[in-house]
Amino acid sequence: MSENESYEIPNMPTSSHRKPSPFLGIGNILRLPNDSTVKTIVVALLLCLVCSVLVSTAAVMLKPFQLKNKSLDKKRNILQVAGLYRAGRNIEQLFQQVEPKVVNLATGEYANEILPGEFDQRQAAKDPLRNVHIPSDRDIAHIKQRAKYATVYLVKEQEEIKYFILPVHGYGLWSTLYGFVVLHNDANTVYGLQFYEHAETPGLGGEVDNPAWRTKWSGKMIYDTKGTPRIEVVRGTVDSGKAESVYQVDGLAGATLTSRGVTHLLRYWLSQDGFGPYLQNVRNQATGTS
Ligand SMILES: Cc1cc2nc3c(=O)[nH]c(=O)nc-3n(C[C@H](O)[C@H](O)[C@H](O)COP(=O)(O)O)c2cc1C
Repeated sequence: MSENESYEIPNMPTSSHRKPSPFLGIGNILRLPNDSTVKTIVVALLLCLVCSVLVSTAAVMLKPFQLKNKSLDKKRNILQVAGLYRAGRNIEQLFQQVEPKVVNLATGEYANEILPGEFDQRQAAKDPLRNVHIPSDRDIAHIKQRAKYATVYLVKEQEEIKYFILPVHGYGLWSTLYGFVVLHNDANTVYGLQFYEHAETPGLGGEVDNPAWRTKWSGKMIYDTKGTPRIEVVRGTVDSGKAESVYQVDGLAGATLTSRGVTHLLRYWLSQDGFGPYLQNVRNQATGTS
């Protein structure tokens, strides 16, 4: 800094032994001319500091609201896929018709010691203590690992289970699709399928959200007589004259890869590696077999 420039700072010590410093006080710096490099840098730094404090404060304060909205959105999706959603009605109230239960996927038994409200399946899938690695030859949904437990949602009518709502996820073309498949109480016939999160291309893979396509799932069967998941999104249109059409849904035009992803994620989650043991228990209980 030149000697001339230093004398532009008002209230600076005038002693010839002390070099004037621009860092002596914010007031001094603000009184510098607007084209001063020091003033420009200090003002920019201050602005950054103020903005980052504002953004961090907003992020921290809004977090509880975001979590609440996320939870409400998930509940709305569950209600929608089960046909229980009523626009304008309180979601928490409507959700009282749904009973969440945590299931041990290996045994297929309810894990009553885990409270559904405190269990986050997506977090658990990332936790080495609470997840299982999926060997690549079995990882048809391309998810690499999954939680040992899963939350299922039961819709009951006079204490009898009417629908099972099962969370499913797997890779499409660009993204992991997260959704719910709803089965009737035979634990085989599909009532509905709905994805609540994905990043497939709108108009192509994004057509998984198209209500017209989603209605095609109703009444389709998951398992053949041997208990193997046969459900499938075909390429093109289903030939309803063929016996296997009961397991098949029309493909999404121009989105064969997303369609294939949907087939694979359903087959994975409904296989013995996913909800298979649980659904087998359910069927055994219904028929009285052990
Ligand atoms: C910009 C762009 C976005 C695409 N998005 C998807 C998509 O979301 N899902 C999908 O399966 N295919 C998507 N495709 C097409 C795939 O690359 C591939 O061509 C298609 O899955 C083949 O399906 P088809 O045999 O039915 O044409 C996209 C292609 C382009 C150029």
